[in-house]
Amino acid sequence: MTLEEKIGQLQQISGDFFGDDGSSVTGPLSSYQVSKKQLNNVGSVLGISGADNVIKIQKEYLTNNRLHIPLVFMADIIHGYKTIFPIPLALGASWNPELVKKVAAASAAEAAAAGIDVTFSPMADLVRDPRWGRVMESTGEDPYLNGMLAESFVDGYQGELPIDQTHVAATVKHFAAYGAPEAGREYNTVDMSEWRFREQYLPAYQKAVEAKALLVMTSFNILFGVPATGNNHLMRQILRKELGFSGVLISDWNAINEMIDHGVANDASQAAAKAIKAGTDIDMMSFAFLGSLEKLAATNVEIKRLIDESATRVLQLKETLGLFEDPYRGISAEKEAKVVLSKKHLDLAKKAAEESIVLLKNRQHILPVNSEKSIALIGAKADTGDLLGNWSWKGDVSTTRTIRAAMATHFSNLAFENGYSFDPSDNETDLKKKAIALAKKQDVIIYVAGLTASQSGEASSMTDIRLPKMQLDLLTELAKLRKPIVTIVITGRPLDLTVVDQLSDAVLLAWFPGTLGAAAITDILSGLVNPSGKLSMTFPRSVGQVPIYYNHYNTGRPVTTSPSDKNNIYLSKYIDSSNDPLYPFGFGLSYANFTLKGLKLSNKVFGAGETITASVNVKNDSKITGTTTLQWYIHDLTADVVRPIKELKHFQRIQLAAGSEKTAYFKISTQELSYIHSDLTRSSDEGFFNLLVGFSSETQLETTFLFKN
Ligand code: GLC
Repeated sequence: MTLEEKIGQLQQISGDFFGDDGSSVTGPLSSYQVSKKQLNNVGSVLGISGADNVIKIQKEYLTNNRLHIPLVFMADIIHGYKTIFPIPLALGASWNPELVKKVAAASAAEAAAAGIDVTFSPMADLVRDPRWGRVMESTGEDPYLNGMLAESFVDGYQGELPIDQTHVAATVKHFAAYGAPEAGREYNTVDMSEWRFREQYLPAYQKAVEAKALLVMTSFNILFGVPATGNNHLMRQILRKELGFSGVLISDWNAINEMIDHGVANDASQAAAKAIKAGTDIDMMSFAFLGSLEKLAATNVEIKRLIDESATRVLQLKETLGLFEDPYRGISAEKEAKVVLSKKHLDLAKKAAEESIVLLKNRQHILPVNSEKSIALIGAKADTGDLLGNWSWKGDVSTTRTIRAAMATHFSNLAFENGYSFDPSDNETDLKKKAIALAKKQDVIIYVAGLTASQSGEASSMTDIRLPKMQLDLLTELAKLRKPIVTIVITGRPLDLTVVDQLSDAVLLAWFPGTLGAAAITDILSGLVNPSGKLSMTFPRSVGQVPIYYNHYNTGRPVTTSPSDKNNIYLSKYIDSSNDPLYPFGFGLSYANFTLKGLKLSNKVFGAGETITASVNVKNDSKITGTTTLQWYIHDLTADVVRPIKELKHFQRIQLAAGSEKTAYFKISTQELSYIHSDLTRSSDEGFFNLLVGFSSETQLETTFLFKN
């Protein structure tokens, strides 16, 4: 390979450069002119899909590439290709790693059939700030749960290595800590100690790398003062040396060039040098590599060596994908038509939606709704296919079944009114009047409120996380009728639902539930399906509490339950709000009722290399079958550094028939007790620990054990 051909392998460009006007553009377009010769050498392309389309572009490319090295096709398959599954933050609420693996496998099968070789997923960024729109792409605020689910995504996408023709390579992103921008403002500064990064933000990426993800994507943000894309410590030391990642490191869109705006590079050439020295292998759409590396290599043997190193990794990726054997990976329009939107995938999409939906309130068991009741279905969100959410690739909103259509098949006496509009030119008073008139005539109000898909995802940070004023005003008017109100919330981010909670008898959080979301919502409302979702991200009482998360530190002046705290102002609290969230991490109701009793430990003391087993009795003392998630937390009472008041260490989804019970177990080893010390090493110390168990992070039972080295 010539130097120019090697550099070409390190450049990724969007599909429009290949004349594919249907390709997706997900970042700022540059004015860089790619020459025909350069076009014949680029190594990869993003945003193109469709078997016929990919075959056409690959065929033409191979005739022009001197060594017939195939292109690799990459795309953002985040929660489905054409069959759209609930957004990742909703999948996080399923607490079901097996389900997530199946969702990823189905997404991979459709994407691979459509000619995609690599997906830019899973996003393993830990998130604690709903002002940041990309929380929708994360699975939440907990290192352990995020790690379990990131591993599931990678296993589902990739299957066994080498990658077969029904799977795609996974890209873990965004490395690293992109989910912690100051003030929740998109692309803003990320600044935290390396101790906190290693303790809370690194684990989920590590689990994905351990699951053999073949790519990692650099993040836009700085970490430890340096943009990730040019951050040697982060990429060479932590990612490649400590985590043992030997795959392809791809920059995020234009992130190499953006080191100039960050102020750590004078020009594209300096940015390109920083990036390749940090181990970034592919330049996504900044053209810094294509435009500068050849000149840099002419006078710098180290850069020349690094180009060889990176080009080798890109070619190894193509080898692992089987592209040298078959550049088309067996795709055809006929095969694509069979795989995409298959019944198997649609059934899975419905099941995933059912398990992701969270019942947040159900006063006096108003839900499920008796199908004999007359229903006033109110809210524009009930009459739109905008249920897929952001990053829903080839998902088609126009053919997605609406909640109104799905409910009409089950509830015979149902009438609908918009009640509000997303179009400011619509007459709000008139809409509200019609909705209230309808509500007066019916037994139950089912109010569907929420946001549009574009109000979460990339470049959608918000300072106000309440529902739109028009929607809250209407709910306030409906509540005055003193009729039962069930509010369904469609959202890609935690919201301040304080008013919604006050005015509604029941609150059902449906997220963006995907292609079969409306059917899942209907089956939950009717009682055909018993909801089991549990929040994987805290819902605040107000944006003023943010960032708010369950695994916080105690501080030196914690608020306790002792009565004296009421008058003691010198505590870590607000004067205008409680510290507690509206809905805590791990929370979610069921139509069934679960109780816990009899928490026991096999031993109260254990040493290195030993384990103890905790057990507890779980009972469903209701008259219907239900599924809940039992959550086990540990609190390290005294350590070298402060430790969270509790940390999730194990969980089990448990289905129990009416009136039945079972014993659940948790085997504790030193692995569950290890943490990052102030010298940044991970180990377990001896000492006392609390074990807490419950159906949410607001645990119900606890006991103590001693670990002695
Ligand atoms: C976007 C996103 C990244 C995505 C990439 C390609 O800017 O940050 O998550 O994978 O560009 O679309």
